[in-house]
Order: sequence, then C-alpha cells, then structure tokens
Amino acid sequence: MPSKKSNRKKKRNEELRNLADTLKSYGLRDDDNQKHSGKHRGPPKARAVRKHGDPKFSSVVAKALAKQGKVNRATHSFHTYPAGMHPDCAKLIIEACPGTVHDPFCGGGTVLVEGLLAGREVTGSDLSPIALLVSKARTSSPSLATPLRSAARKIAAQAQLRIDVEIDEELQKWYQPHVAQELGRIRDQIQTYPKDIQPLLNAVFSSIIVKTSFRKSDTSNQRETHHRPVGTTAILFHKKARELGRMLESMPENNAKIFEANACTQGPKENVDLILTSPPYPGVYDYLPLQQLRYLWLGIEHANSAQEIGSRRSFRALGRKDALKEWQDETKSWIHTQTHKLTPGGKFAIIVGDGLVGGKLVDTLFPTVEALKSCNMKVLARASADRPDHARGAVRIEHLVLAERE
Ligand SMILES: C[S@@+](CC[C@H](N)C(=O)[O-])C[C@H]1O[C@@H](n2cnc3c(N)ncnc32)[C@H](O)[C@@H]1O
Repeated sequence: MPSKKSNRKKKRNEELRNLADTLKSYGLRDDDNQKHSGKHRGPPKARAVRKHGDPKFSSVVAKALAKQGKVNRATHSFHTYPAGMHPDCAKLIIEACPGTVHDPFCGGGTVLVEGLLAGREVTGSDLSPIALLVSKARTSSPSLATPLRSAARKIAAQAQLRIDVEIDEELQKWYQPHVAQELGRIRDQIQTYPKDIQPLLNAVFSSIIVKTSFRKSDTSNQRETHHRPVGTTAILFHKKARELGRMLESMPENNAKIFEANACTQGPKENVDLILTSPPYPGVYDYLPLQQLRYLWLGIEHANSAQEIGSRRSFRALGRKDALKEWQDETKSWIHTQTHKLTPGGKFAIIVGDGLVGGKLVDTLFPTVEALKSCNMKVLARASADRPDHARGAVRIEHLVLAERE
C-alpha cells in the first residue's frame, strides 16, 4: 500500500504539472521551471514569482506579490484578521498607481492604512461588522490616542473589582469563569464612555476576545484549554489599548470613509483612481461565521453571512461544481459593480488565490481576467506565486492582476 508520504508527493507533483499547464495557457513565464520538475524536494519557495505583461508594471506586481514577513508599521499589527494583504504589497501597488484608493473587501484595513500613509484619500467597504470595526479603528484620528488610553486605564481598573455581571451561556462555554467576568465588566464599562471613543474601545475589546478564550485561533473553532490568572484579562485590555494609542500616533489625520456594503451590489460612492483589493478565495474561509464569539460579546445581531462570497460552507453545501459556478458569477458581478466609478485610466489591482476544494485546486486567474476584460478593462500585467500549504501538503497559487480602465 502506498504510504501517506508518497501519496502526498504524487498529489503535489500532479498539482505542479497542472500549474505548469495553467501558466503555459496564460503565457506566463516560469522562472522556477527547474524546481517544478518534481525532483525538487519540499515545497517550491514562495518567492518563485512568475510575471507577464508590460515590463514596468509586471516588475511592480511581481515584487509586490513576493513580499513576506511581519510588518509593524503604523496600525498594521493591531487586531488579527484572516487572510490580510501584505502591507508592503499594498504599499508598492499604491506607489505605482496615483490618486484616490478604494478597497471593496477591506477586511482588517491594510489597503486603507497604506493609502493614508501614502497621503491618499481612501474609502473602503466590507460585509463583515468586525472588518468595519477593525478598519475604522486602524484608520482613526491620532487625536483619539490619549482619550483612548485614559479610558482603557479606568476600565481595566474597574474590571478587576469583583462585581458579578451577566454572561451569555453560549459565551461561558469558551472561557474560565473569572475571565468571562472580567470581559463582561470591560464590555459593560465601555458603554459608559463617549460615543467618539466607544468604537475604538470596542475594537480593543474585540482584539482580546479570541486570545483569552479556549478557541485555538481566529480561524479555528478547536478548543485548547489554558489558564489565565485572575486580573490578567483586564491588564491585557489596557496593554492593547496603549499599543493602539501608540500606533495611532504614527497615523496621519485623515478622512477615511468606511462603510458596510455587499461588493456585488455597491461600489465606491465617488470616482476613484485605484481599486486595490483581495476578495475571498473560493472555499477557503467562512469570514462572517468565524467571528461568532465577537458578535456575541459585542451584541452584533445581524451579520450578512448569506451574501458572503466564496465561503467554505457554500462549497460544502452546493458541491464543487455549483459553488464554483456561483463564485465565478459573483466575481463577474463584483468586478462589474466596482468598475462603475473608476476614472478613465484608473487602475484595478486584484490579489486572488486558487482555492482548494475537495483536495483539488480551483483556478481563479482565468475567471478574474475574463471578468476584468468583460468590463472594458485592459490587463496591463500579472504575476503568480506558489504558496506552499503545509497543512494540506499542497501548493496553492496566488495571483496579482493589474488592469487599467480604457
Ligand atoms: C481576503 S479578506 C480581505 C482582507 C483584507 N485585504 C485585509 O488586508 O485585511 C476578504 C474579505 O471579503 C469580505 N467579504 C466576503 N463577501 C463579501 C461581499 N459580498 N461583499 C463585501 N465583502 C465581502 C470578508 O468579510 C473579508 O473581510
């Protein structure tokens, strides 16, 4: 019987052969060809970026896609968000494309922060209430740093007083009792502060909700028990608020506009020169349900999960073929909606990764390029990079496509 290891190797070689075919059909150069022969041990390096198109722009997109590693600039490291864009990737694309910036899947707000740091007007939207909370916090005015720290210090002191508060039963399952009590007191205290800093306090609160719970991580519902000494949850809240305050002080005063919207039906409200975004990859995450613990704590009753694009659950429920068709239709729909307010000569940059459904790769480059072309967008350049998926022993490909409004 073939071992698990040899099965994995066979599967990987098959994926690499498919990758070579895909690249060939798009006329993409495979600079890392040798390593895809199957003889290369271990996954291909993430830096193996293949590029195509206008030499100036293809160099930029290839360089942007190759960016890796942690970045602590400005507010980027405040609050985790699944599948965030690399800040340096956003920075390079923004530098290459002048004017106002919009991100219709703004998530944790990476593009918006980089746009502001580059001195641009920025707007962003998302379906997820947590994405909106985090993006707004990361782009808040530096003038709120001091009131935020002062409020957080008082809240943390109050949260250590042993006054019992009511905690939802569903929440109690995920915390040690004293941790749930400290969180409950923080939540209640936040309501007593002025409306201008409440969203920031809630964002800080949100940033510790998963960390202090038994949930393994933001993207996993697995339980992992641990012990948090009494009082440390309140201290963590205060520490996170101080961190955010410090980060905000390095942000420019700004007028970022961030709103709730389904990207398929609502685009930017005013004309924009650059749309830079990363939509959900097919079948990879359930962005909205992943935030269930935060919804419960923050009293968010309504999250538009039904309108989420490419969710993992839709691939399970509909099956690969129908879910993929749905994802392709949605891709056409959101790209079409977003191009309406793009100025002539304006740029549209999309980062999208191949999904992995039922162990098989789902190509995202072709539908994305076709959707752009169908909206009178000229593809200037594109790049593709291998992303080793160690958990599944597979290789996925991420693409960055840059198009221009004709
Ligand atoms: C890949 S993430 C974006 C991450 C972001 N670029 C960042 O750096 O944090 C995709 C986002 O799409 C959002 N989303 C999913 N379906 C949507 C829809 N129909 N309209 C708007 N946003 C949607 C999810 O809530 C998620 O925040």
